[in-house]
Amino acid sequence: MIGVFDSGFGGLTVHRALIEALPERDFVYLGDNRNAPYGARPPIDVLNLTCTALERLFAEGCTLAIVACNTASVVALRWIQQQWLPARRHDDGVARNAIGIVIPTIEAVTGIGWHEGGSAAQETKQSSTIAVFATSRTVQTGCYPIEIRKRRPDITVVQQACPELAGSIERGVPRREIRELVEQYVGELLNRIGTTPDSVILGCTHYPLVTDLFAAALPCGVRIIHQPEATARALKFYLNRHPEYDVSNAGRRIFLSTGFSNEALPLIEKFWGDKLPFLEA
Ligand code: DGL
Repeated sequence: MIGVFDSGFGGLTVHRALIEALPERDFVYLGDNRNAPYGARPPIDVLNLTCTALERLFAEGCTLAIVACNTASVVALRWIQQQWLPARRHDDGVARNAIGIVIPTIEAVTGIGWHEGGSAAQETKQSSTIAVFATSRTVQTGCYPIEIRKRRPDITVVQQACPELAGSIERGVPRREIRELVEQYVGELLNRIGTTPDSVILGCTHYPLVTDLFAAALPCGVRIIHQPEATARALKFYLNRHPEYDVSNAGRRIFLSTGFSNEALPLIEKFWGDKLPFLEA
């Protein structure tokens, strides 16, 4: 069973791409709606909530968990992988791991796979300036610039926090207002950097829903990285390299949410394109 975790329903954008890439695998999705949004929470909260969510997914039988939330990935995942997971990996002889959404995105934008012959090898386009749009917390950690420069020190990475965007998408504010917000954030970035980025990372689970608005607000020819597709490609490659994560193959789907209510149904349809049978986590 593969677990997919997000602060809420936004991670369904990633989940859908994973299921499309690996339809035979068993998946359980967990949205921590009771505690969303994570984007403005103190880091210690994000860390504790992410650990709790991973415990839940492992208890559900997951051997591999994908942290689809950018905020949780950049704030918590490194510590979790280094300090928290080792004790849980093999305590009953079962291999367990949690991986995030940042590395697949960086593989896609830099064109360099994390391992030789990596999953993004086909995307070798050169980039000299990469722009990252994300939640305030994701921007504040500097995770994307730090990790990109480790691989490609020649690249300039610029960031733009979009504090209102994920919440506005969730609240279903009119599209005209969302367009204005996107134009505002893109405009702020372009004015600040005084040049056009070659590539853009939309570093938040919610932003794939407004990729077209970013494309319209950005100058022509800017490449936009699609995080869900990049993550799906990386997961396929990861599973081939790691047969020890004994992920079952019955095509099962489970959808869990903390604090689910029927009021969320339109939001689920927005992120998934259809109704989903969510259970209380
Ligand atoms: N899932 C979060 C992310 O990708 C966005 C929503 C939130 O702030 O919880 O950063």
